[in-house]
Amino acid sequence: MRTDDDTWDITTSVGSTALFVAAARALEAQKPDPLAVDPFAEVFCRAVGGQWAAVLDGEAPDHPLKSEQFGQHFVTFQAARTRYFDAYFRRVAQAGVRQIVLLAAGLDSRAYRLDWAPGTTIYELDQPQVLEFKREAVAAHGANPTAERREIAVDLRDDWPQALRDSGFQSAQPSAWIAEGLLIYLPASAQEQLFTGIDALASTGSHLAVEEGRPMDRDAFQAKVQQAKSVGNERGQWWQLVYNEQVAPAAQWFGERGWTAEETTLVDYLKGVGRSADSADAEVANMLASITLVRAIKG
Ligand SMILES: C[S@@+](CC[C@H](N)C(=O)[O-])C[C@H]1O[C@@H](n2cnc3c(N)ncnc32)[C@H](O)[C@@H]1O
Repeated sequence: MRTDDDTWDITTSVGSTALFVAAARALEAQKPDPLAVDPFAEVFCRAVGGQWAAVLDGEAPDHPLKSEQFGQHFVTFQAARTRYFDAYFRRVAQAGVRQIVLLAAGLDSRAYRLDWAPGTTIYELDQPQVLEFKREAVAAHGANPTAERREIAVDLRDDWPQALRDSGFQSAQPSAWIAEGLLIYLPASAQEQLFTGIDALASTGSHLAVEEGRPMDRDAFQAKVQQAKSVGNERGQWWQLVYNEQVAPAAQWFGERGWTAEETTLVDYLKGVGRSADSADAEVANMLASITLVRAIKG
């Protein structure tokens, strides 16, 4: 279970979720017609080894990412979300934004694999051991960032805006923010603090992209958490890491503060890129239907 000041590395607690989504991206890249290709995802999985390498080599048939009911849909979901946010960053770069903030960067490799304009600085915020793993894995692979990359080892429930400013972030200049795969790991109070921090630091003309999920019915969620305690794998543990809370839909929260937001449901996005969101499994269908991708510009 979570506590207000819990910490983790890349293979434990919330840290392992970064590895889980990286493994999904690596599996997508193996498909003949992938929605998105993140070559670093495989690098990270192989750096950890064990089940994370085995799942890529077809040697972990029981891994949740290989299950027909959950795994194949989750891999497509991650690929769609990578594609959506990659396109977002290409647009903000074309719009002239040169400060990029990856909130809960995890194993996001965009600082290494996207074409950034000269003069771009990418701030990556996450817990210290997650950033340390990523730095060492990428260094061992021999890759260099395609923009100036600054790590900010901080907990996003603490005073991260001060840490960002201390690293050189200029709030008078436009910025582009992302919260991908983050909000479910924060209680509503920390989501409010996060949104307030973004709004305070983003100048007019700044951009934001968010992935969010609609919370489940409270009793259904509690039942899931109890049931998951008896499931020993990553998927079972995951239910004990998330907060089933939402301070407000991001489009509404930021819309009330002068931002213009556009929401796309994951289901619509999947249809638009020619992928099915149909699942015979009610839990998986509900998961897919609960996700919204949001982008916003501060007016
Ligand atoms: C599912 S991963 C997503 C990583 C990345 N954004 C991506 O989509 O690949 C969740 C990430 O959120 C980070 N995270 C969650 N809560 C956090 C907190 N309170 N402070 C810092 N990082 C946090 C974890 O360390 C992990 O890297």
